[in-house]
Amino acid sequence: MQSVESAAFRVDRDAGRLYNFSAGPGVLPEPVLEEVRQELPVYRGIGTSVMEISHRSPTYTEIAASARALLKKLLGLGDEWHILFLQGGASMQFYQVPLNFLPPGGRADYLVTGTWSVKAIQEAQRVGTAREAASSKDRHFSYIPDPASWDLDLEAAYLHFTSNNTIFGTQFKAEPEVEPLLVCDASSDFLSRPLDPARYGLIYAGAQKNIGPAGVTVVLVRDDFLQRRNSDLPTMLDYGTHAAKLFNTPPVFAVYVVEKVLRWLDGLGGIPAIQQINEAKAARLYARLDAGAFYRGTAEPAFRSTMNVTFRLADEALEPVFLREAQEAGLLALKGHRSVGGMRASLYNALPPEAVDALVAFMDDFEQRYG
Ligand SMILES: Cc1ncc(COP(=O)(O)O)c(C=O)c1O
Repeated sequence: MQSVESAAFRVDRDAGRLYNFSAGPGVLPEPVLEEVRQELPVYRGIGTSVMEISHRSPTYTEIAASARALLKKLLGLGDEWHILFLQGGASMQFYQVPLNFLPPGGRADYLVTGTWSVKAIQEAQRVGTAREAASSKDRHFSYIPDPASWDLDLEAAYLHFTSNNTIFGTQFKAEPEVEPLLVCDASSDFLSRPLDPARYGLIYAGAQKNIGPAGVTVVLVRDDFLQRRNSDLPTMLDYGTHAAKLFNTPPVFAVYVVEKVLRWLDGLGGIPAIQQINEAKAARLYARLDAGAFYRGTAEPAFRSTMNVTFRLADEALEPVFLREAQEAGLLALKGHRSVGGMRASLYNALPPEAVDALVAFMDDFEQRYG
């Protein structure tokens, strides 16, 4: 009999599915894609597809309620948490967060650990006083600054951080232990490991890396934090609007797929199970990087991400050859972000462990031929 894990990570090579290391939009679980396929063009006998029904219909209402219930179960969230399905990507949150929570005359702290947190603080500075409490820019964002060095403001309305730096391949190994509530951009490691809800006021994540297709941003906001928001906000940018009711048309299809990914994750054993799988995948690839001088990881070892593994070849001139041959070997999207170059293997929740085995085997072979 097939194990739960091998069924969850099946890849239909005969159908032409390859191993996809894309940083986002990223790989989705194949059983989810299959279920979506089966539910087109008719969803469960309703005579039409999910894309063609009212967002106020019982069918969509049930899907969205199930997605919320699964998120609460997976993350251990109580009823004090609102779960919003918004649009505009994580990038919209960079502005929406300070617009709501940076009070006039107040201040917020930001930990600047990569390109996305640079963008987040820039947007906050349009709204008010957003302070850089720490930055790792001095060493090309290859590490997470030591908490002892953070210049914290105890009066800050919140502390914003990016839990995983998608471009530079670093990740906070522990949640910041600070007085103010945390606001987290968890776009690239959401639901990959547990979090302690008590520390947070708000968590946001674009779906397209770990939990679904592009088009929906999941926002978790705690009610006591929500009540502190500024007044007279533009309706659509006020979290209160969306917490109170279904104000406008949500991204129905994206939420429908997210619900399936959450069910997939729950069936696999939830966050403890996926965390173990993620750590094993990352450990295997980092061990290969460290096995000699031919490959070189770019993030400082203590801060290496389990989600985005960034690396170079000692001979950088060989990198285009590596990327081309990897693609030919069926290993997709290993090119590093255009701002940093090199390679990046994204190992999101849905990436099968066998994909990492295949990448490591390719790396062994490539080194034998070119090393
Ligand atoms: C950590 C992080 N934050 C924000 C973004 C931007 O997300 P979006 O394109 O959904 O606005 C990304 C995209 O890669 C990301 O990785």
